[in-house]
This record gives sequence, C-alpha cells and structure tokens, in this order.
Amino acid sequence: ENSVYKFYSESEWRKSSSGKSVPIINPTTRQTHFRVQACTQDEVNKIIETAKTAQKLWAKTPLWKRAELLHKAAAVLKEQKVPIAECLVKEIAKPAKDAVTEVVRSGDLVSYCAEEGVRILGEGKFLVSDSFPGNERTKYCLTSKIPLGVVLAIPPFNYPVNLAVSKIAPALIAGNSLVLKPPTQGAVAALHMVHCFHLAGFPKGLISCVTGKGSEIGDFLTMHPGVNCISFTGGDTGIAISKKAGMIPLQMELGGKDACIVLEDADLDLATANIVKGGFSYSGQRCTAVKVVLVMESVADTLVEKVKAKVAKLTVGPPEDDCDITPVVTESSANFIEGLVMDAKQKGATICQEYKREGNLIWPLLLDHVRPDMRIAWEEPFGPVLPVIRINSVEEGVHHCNASNFGLQGSVFTRDINKAILISDAMETGTIQINSAPARGPDHFPFQGLKDSGIGSQGITNSINMMTKIKSTVINLP
Ligand code: G3P
Repeated sequence: ENSVYKFYSESEWRKSSSGKSVPIINPTTRQTHFRVQACTQDEVNKIIETAKTAQKLWAKTPLWKRAELLHKAAAVLKEQKVPIAECLVKEIAKPAKDAVTEVVRSGDLVSYCAEEGVRILGEGKFLVSDSFPGNERTKYCLTSKIPLGVVLAIPPFNYPVNLAVSKIAPALIAGNSLVLKPPTQGAVAALHMVHCFHLAGFPKGLISCVTGKGSEIGDFLTMHPGVNCISFTGGDTGIAISKKAGMIPLQMELGGKDACIVLEDADLDLATANIVKGGFSYSGQRCTAVKVVLVMESVADTLVEKVKAKVAKLTVGPPEDDCDITPVVTESSANFIEGLVMDAKQKGATICQEYKREGNLIWPLLLDHVRPDMRIAWEEPFGPVLPVIRINSVEEGVHHCNASNFGLQGSVFTRDINKAILISDAMETGTIQINSAPARGPDHFPFQGLKDSGIGSQGITNSINMMTKIKSTVINLP
C-alpha cells in the first residue's frame, strides 16, 4: 500500500522520470490506497516510437502464433483472477464476486478473440473485373485485412480489465501494437492484467501501459501523430477526443440513458427482476444500466411495489463483503448523484425510500412520478438511483427514449412479440433487448450506440474488423 506502481514500456517496468505519482483513492475508505507513475510526454513519445517499430515485426508474425500468445495470456489472466479482483475491490469498490467475474470474462474474451481472429483474418476476397460494365475478365482482385498500426486503448473505471482487453485482444490479433492508458481508478488492476500479457511473452514494445494525469498526457496521447486508431470507452471526454483526434478510425462508447419500457401485458415479475438487476448492479455504474423506467400507468403501481420490495432486499456496504450496493467511485460522483436526487425531490418526484448517504455510499433509491422537467429524466446518474416515468401510451415511451441525446440500448417488456419488434424498430438505440435488461455481453455480440452514445460498433468481430484496413492487390492479365 502507498507504493508507487511502475508503468510498462519496452516490456519493462519503469519509474517515471517525473518523480511524481498519481494517487488512487479507495472509494470505500476515501484514503489513498495505491499510487501510479505520473508519466511525462517524453515517456509517451518513447512508448509510441517503440510501439511503431514492434508493430512492423508483429504484422509479419504468423496469425496462428499471434493467436497462441493470446491464448497464453488468457490462461495467465484467469490464473491471476484473485489478485486482480482484489485490486478492483480496492480501486473501484466493485463487489468481490463481480470483480472475479470481470477477470474470468476477460480471459474468455481474449481466447474467443484469438479464435475469431484466426478465422476472419485468415480469409480474404477474390473479385473478377467483368461483373462491372465495360470490363473484360482481365483483372483479378485479391483482398486481405491489414493492421492499422498503433492502437491507443482508453478504458473506463467501471471495467478497467474487461474493457481494456476488449480493445487489446482485437488490436493484437489483427497485427497492431497497443498502447494502454488505463483509468486512474482501476490502473493497478490494469497494470496487473498487462503483466499477464508480459508473462505470456509478447515481443518487446508491442504492448505498453502508460499512467498519469489526463492534463499532462491525455490530449498528448489522443492527438499524437504516431497513433493510428483510438478505442475509447467512457464519458463526455470521448466527444472532446473525437473532435481533436486526427484522421484515424475511432471507436467510442460514451454512456447511455437506457430506457426500459414496460407494457400492460408484461410479465411484471420478470420486468421487476431485470429492472433491479439492470438498474442496481455495480450500483448503477454501467453505461448499459437501466437508467429510466417508462411504465404504462395501468400497471405502474404494481410494478413500483414489486421493484420497491426487491430493492429493499439489496445489501448495502463494502465491496469486500460482496454487498450489492457499494460506494460509488468518487466523492464528486456521489455529489453529482445527490444533486440529481435533490433536483427531482424539489420538483415533486416521489422518493420511494429514505435518501441515505455515508461518504461515497448511497443507498439504493427509486424515484417515482418523475417528469420531463427533472434532470434525472435525462441525465445519467451512474449511481444507484432509478427514475420511473409513468406513460399513457407506447408512443409516449418511445418518444421519451428518442428525445434523449443518448442512444445506447433500451429494453421492452411485453408478451406480444409483434409489438416488441415494432417498438424495437421505433427506438433509436444501438440495441434493444426484448424481455431482458440492457447488457453488452455476450462479448461477441455487436455493441454500439447511436447519437452521443458513440461511434462505430464493438463486440469481438466488429472490433477486429475495425482495427484493420482492406488491402487489395490487382492482377492485370494481358
Ligand atoms: O459500462 C460499460 C458497458 O460496456 C457495460 O457493459 O457488460 O455491464 O453491459 P455490461
């Protein structure tokens, strides 16, 4: 504790020449728990230079060998699940069991990515010219997928390991090198994860991990001319990055205000279970959390009662005890959540439980009779508070969903599949879940947001494709 973790460059663990460090505050104790190096711009330059060189050789490494190394890394990662999960508990207050699940899921993702990569990257296309008007059969076109170069990965605090490997593994299998800038909360878990890749034996400089202050190296990294692709998950920063980044492919996932529409004919027990799981898992700190319930007035009283009864059973406390609701990541986040609650309360929302907060720990809260003039109807709390808006028609629900500046996921509960499909088509989001809460996984499913929720599509296959470019060779016959 309080030791300064080294950063990873040229396959070695190094101290920054800045002599400075960044504290990682444990959300539960609100004390500094770890420290990481505050890297300098010179160190970033060095890392990107090495990444560039390493990538050239890596692109020539046979695909099956790249896959083999990824499988090794996945195995080491799974072996290391306990110590990595312990970091997640201390750095981001993720409940102990969920922390282990995150690491295991990450190992599975890396293996799946290796398997998917050898399949889809091992195939190209063959085109013949005479299908286009005016051409004879004199040109054969061969296409293959080539890497982009240096990929910069910036995952968020809520999945510092899983959302890092969901960028690292596709980048590497496709023949890119990778520079990771982990979130400050979660940096040590990420460094530990990087060590698993180190132990697997990847070539020197292919993977690097740079830590430090956003103000010093944030823009410097994202605007660096040596970076050929950015994969970012997080908040508004992503919008700023996409405005400043150069002419390079961007993959951005920037949060959501996922609506859950509940119709009169819904299975209310199923809806309740999903609303509570979707709204309160990891204390609502997921971009795919249920962030607003839009329920038909005729079933609203029953649904709210059922949800209240289930919320009352959630355990609240430290992540070490594997409580359902744990402290939110920072004090400023807790203050922001509290601001949304107070605004709704003042404007007349029904607060279904007593509002309670100790430090960063906020007790789960359901807010009924929320109206569109309340901030919580539109803003993303990223905390254990869930607004309910009562609607009188499906159209009203769809309208609310589509009026949001976000468009990540949404869900609809009904027993009528035809209605569900129509609503799914009408909701302007990247994914709609029928009769289940929003979720990114399984990790090979496409995952994408519309509007301010992001650019591009993730999921293992899409990420591999996004981190490659098509190269054609045309054979011209006499
Ligand atoms: O908040 C990050 C987002 O990717 C959520 O993932 O697995 O909790 O649906 P998941």
